[in-house]
Amino acid sequence: MEQLHQFFQDKTVSTLLDVGTGTGSFISVLKETFSDTKFTGIDPDKTSLEEATKMHPDVQCMKMTGEKLDFPDSTFDAASISMAMHHLPDVQQTFNEMKRVVKPGGWIIVNELFSDNLNPAQEVHKSMHHFRSTVDRLKGVCHKETFTRAEILEQVEKAGLEICVAFNNEKDRVEPTPEEIAERKEKLTEMLGQIEDKPEYHDMKKQIPEIEKALKQHGFQMATRVVVIATVKKD
Ligand SMILES: C[S@@+](CC[C@H](N)C(=O)[O-])C[C@H]1O[C@@H](n2cnc3c(N)ncnc32)[C@H](O)[C@@H]1O
Repeated sequence: MEQLHQFFQDKTVSTLLDVGTGTGSFISVLKETFSDTKFTGIDPDKTSLEEATKMHPDVQCMKMTGEKLDFPDSTFDAASISMAMHHLPDVQQTFNEMKRVVKPGGWIIVNELFSDNLNPAQEVHKSMHHFRSTVDRLKGVCHKETFTRAEILEQVEKAGLEICVAFNNEKDRVEPTPEEIAERKEKLTEMLGQIEDKPEYHDMKKQIPEIEKALKQHGFQMATRVVVIATVKKD
């Protein structure tokens, strides 16, 4: 990520905490910029952490939520959170914890998809994401719909963080093959099966052919993500 690299090229980040690290895919991106950094990844999901450890044996992976980080104050030079903000039951509490464990003058990096100003192929991604988040919520799992870009920046500022730079991160549009379309449809159908007993089941079922049609018509593109680099103010 070129802009991330540019921002940090004259800064020292010896330690970085990745919150909601999942299988560690954002750590792979961060490693392109932070080559000599010691990473720690936390996530409440044990299975994802096992994958992250396989992918990054050098990273310390710990089972934890963002709302209660089990580290002393000012432990890390930087902290990051990627694609996990919309999974948090309490965004402000997590940002406050990230601020607490980052040294004054250190940085917080937020990478999060947003819901506004998307093209039709990105709207397809958004509708799939909303389908998944609705299923999760019906199962009692915290999974919010996508925030707008302004809402993401607002949450960062509300936490008392000073935004240094915010830029968009776009992936290319892809034309899915008939097999890929069938695979995505299968995934949605599988998800739907998890809420068979809920009254929302029948309405949700109607969405699958609509999403399939949009996928055929527009293709697929990840919703744009905003990357925010903010600093933890010194007292
Ligand atoms: C979509 S994944 C993102 C994974 C990775 N950071 C990435 O960019 O690909 C969201 C992650 O947030 C985690 N998560 C859910 N609730 C959380 C919480 N309260 N605190 C921290 N992470 C949480 C999930 O377990 C999941 O691994």
